[in-house]
Amino acid sequence: MQSPVKVLVTGSNGQLGFEIRELAAAYPDLVFDFTDRSRLPVAEEESIAQYFEEFQPDYCINCAAYTAVDRAEAPEEAAVAEKVNATAVACLARACASGGTKLIHISTDYVFDGRATEPYKPSDATHPLSVYGATKRKGELLAQEQTDAVIIRTAWVYSSFGKNFVKTMIRLMQERPAINVVSDQYGAPTYARDLAKAIIDIISGDSWLPGIYHYTNEGAISWYDFAVKIRELTGSSCTINAIPATAYPTPAKRPAYSVLDTATIKEAYKVDTPYWTSSLKECIEKLKQEKYFL
Ligand SMILES: NC(=O)c1ccc[n+]([C@@H]2O[C@H](COP(=O)([O-])OP(=O)(O)OC[C@H]3O[C@@H](n4cnc5c(N)ncnc54)[C@H](OP(=O)(O)O)[C@@H]3O)[C@@H](O)[C@H]2O)c1
Repeated sequence: MQSPVKVLVTGSNGQLGFEIRELAAAYPDLVFDFTDRSRLPVAEEESIAQYFEEFQPDYCINCAAYTAVDRAEAPEEAAVAEKVNATAVACLARACASGGTKLIHISTDYVFDGRATEPYKPSDATHPLSVYGATKRKGELLAQEQTDAVIIRTAWVYSSFGKNFVKTMIRLMQERPAINVVSDQYGAPTYARDLAKAIIDIISGDSWLPGIYHYTNEGAISWYDFAVKIRELTGSSCTINAIPATAYPTPAKRPAYSVLDTATIKEAYKVDTPYWTSSLKECIEKLKQEKYFL
């Protein structure tokens, strides 16, 4: 009899971690261990070593990350972001390499500066504009230095769990008669559930092809387009004003264009990248069922 495949999920109280949790029941051949900051604090090297010694996972899905993009610009927070997004990734990757664990690490479109005019390929030159982006890029390099990881860059992640643009827009559209949304930053949203499914498909498949990949839903839109669709799908009558990013200054600079080319992950792993509107509809229907909005 084959032994079960053991999968460690770090940072499993985040958006992506929660989505993997929800899907896990459908995969009885995979034995998941969902860890959070208290059970497996990834910034503590000894905790990682001890965990790997005891559990010896076959796969590690690293969903733990410092994701407060604007807060990371403060010098004292930058050090925390560096620890979680870079140092801890090196440590996890080292533990994976020595235990024969396959590492799936998640990264971001913010490794790019947004000056491109066509979708970024995984091999394109990086140039992060923010502390968050720089720490995530460092994490990618450190992971690759230590082990043959699969690194998946994603973007504009939302879910029915946690905090994200979709849930913020729904709330603001209920509270206010009018809102302003940036219309000159372009990207592609990612329903965390679709990404979770893609990751489980990679684990369940026969091939392991290390490298950097891009995963988002299909499409290329602005935040304004995204908000307009959210309004349509929730039946809101809120007015949405399109504004330039310069009218909404934030501590961290964001790429003006960060559409990611997903061709290589589809080719290598045959994963599905649904069109952004169909996934958004699915998430909003779930939020409606959960009475997140009326
Ligand atoms: N959200 C986006 O729009 C976006 C875009 C591009 C890429 N990504 C990447 O996608 C991945 C998943 O993002 P997400 O949206 O699911 O993030 P998230 O909701 O912020 O979840 C991150 C999780 O990491 C945990 N964490 C932070 N520090 C930790 C530590 N020292 N030890 C253990 N756990 C720790 C957090 O725990 P607490 O809840 O206790 O803080 C949280 O549960 C991340 O790698 C992120 O960089 C996200």
